[in-house]
Amino acid sequence: MKNTPIPAEVVDKIVAESGIKEVGKASIREVKRLINQIEIESGKEFIRMEMGIPGLPACKVGVEAQIQALKNGVAALYPDIEGIPDLKKEAARFVKNFIDLDVNPENCIPTVGSMMGGMAGFMTFVRCRKGRDTTLFIDPGFPVQKQQHRVLGLKYETFDVYNFRGQKLRAKLESYLQKGNIHTIIYSNPNNPSWICFTEEELQIIGELANQYDVFVFEDLAYFGMDFRNDISKPGVAPFQPSVGKYTENYALLISGSKAFSYAGERIAIMVLSNKMFKREFPDLMPYFRMTQLGRAIIYGTVYAISSGVAHSAQYAMAAILKACNDGTYNYLDDVREYGEKAAIMKKLFTDNGFYIVYDKDGEKDLADGFYFTVAYPGMTSDELLHEFLYYGISAISLTTCGSERGEGLRACVSLTPRRQFPLLEERLKMFKANH
Ligand SMILES: Cc1ncc(COP(=O)(O)O)c(C=O)c1O
Repeated sequence: MKNTPIPAEVVDKIVAESGIKEVGKASIREVKRLINQIEIESGKEFIRMEMGIPGLPACKVGVEAQIQALKNGVAALYPDIEGIPDLKKEAARFVKNFIDLDVNPENCIPTVGSMMGGMAGFMTFVRCRKGRDTTLFIDPGFPVQKQQHRVLGLKYETFDVYNFRGQKLRAKLESYLQKGNIHTIIYSNPNNPSWICFTEEELQIIGELANQYDVFVFEDLAYFGMDFRNDISKPGVAPFQPSVGKYTENYALLISGSKAFSYAGERIAIMVLSNKMFKREFPDLMPYFRMTQLGRAIIYGTVYAISSGVAHSAQYAMAAILKACNDGTYNYLDDVREYGEKAAIMKKLFTDNGFYIVYDKDGEKDLADGFYFTVAYPGMTSDELLHEFLYYGISAISLTTCGSERGEGLRACVSLTPRRQFPLLEERLKMFKANH
């Protein structure tokens, strides 16, 4: 038995008791629970890299506006389902200022996190056209969106984009789109879990094919602006958040309050439909929604049915945050740049100790340092590495649970690892290397 920071018998006992058959296939929440138990039993703290929770205080502008809204009595009142006017106005301004896309305020719909925005989108897009009943995931991706498909009984197809970057993406996408069953393509950008960011060339390919095959593109901007290689924090000034919206009008965006503004606890995001998408009429929507306009069907059909809108005070918070960004009085990226700086240090600790970065390039460029990175160890599968890390007091999630077809590597999230733990991480990685 090798000497490891956490005694093997403690880890093995807790894994056996957990009922989890293969640690590598466990969900994020299951891994979290397992680690909590190992920490309690062993008395040793883990380097926690499994969950994508913001590790920073919530945006102050939002908190203050929310408290004021509550004091003004909004808690007693149902909010408008389509969202409060100020939020819709500021969201449209934000989209113009930071993505350089023109959208009407009415197309900006608050949702209970991007989680609900995604769900509302899938539930509606799948009903637009009979026969188009399948979502295409450009993976790796956020596992919960597939869980949404499963609980809704919706179909999806997926491929790992690793081998299809650049021009190779066109033929790969066409091989799915030609079949005629895809209603929506979804991806996140920057990408959870790999932190790849699509290049303009790739976004253009996706947009052109969306036009050619008339499919929707659901662009999940959960990590808005957090490709720190470009500073997109200045309102109305290039560079902007790259978006497929430059190349097609068949887009819907998800802009989350959770990561860019550290507002995860209040569960708020904005779903933005292009002007064309919002107004488009689909007769096939009629039996489900009693209306045929897509934008109205989402608001008065789906969002109404799921939650009747979004918590009133959280809408005031988000409106104030977006207004401050738009007015240039608050630079949201200054608050979150810490993630990129930590990632650069943590990635080096791994690569110095024999690990390699799995998803490592965007075209010719090295990947940005940000909220997540991917690591693997030569000769070890994802599942083996994840399990082995438990003995070293390091937690992450397996890339295989995110639709990665590489079979190797883990997703590491930097947010919950404080800088004071870096020496401990280094010590454990050195020990790992020595033992392997
Ligand atoms: C790609 C992606 N989409 C959506 C979400 C969920 O965001 P929200 O907190 O706004 O529901 C996350 C959260 O981790 C994410 O990584």
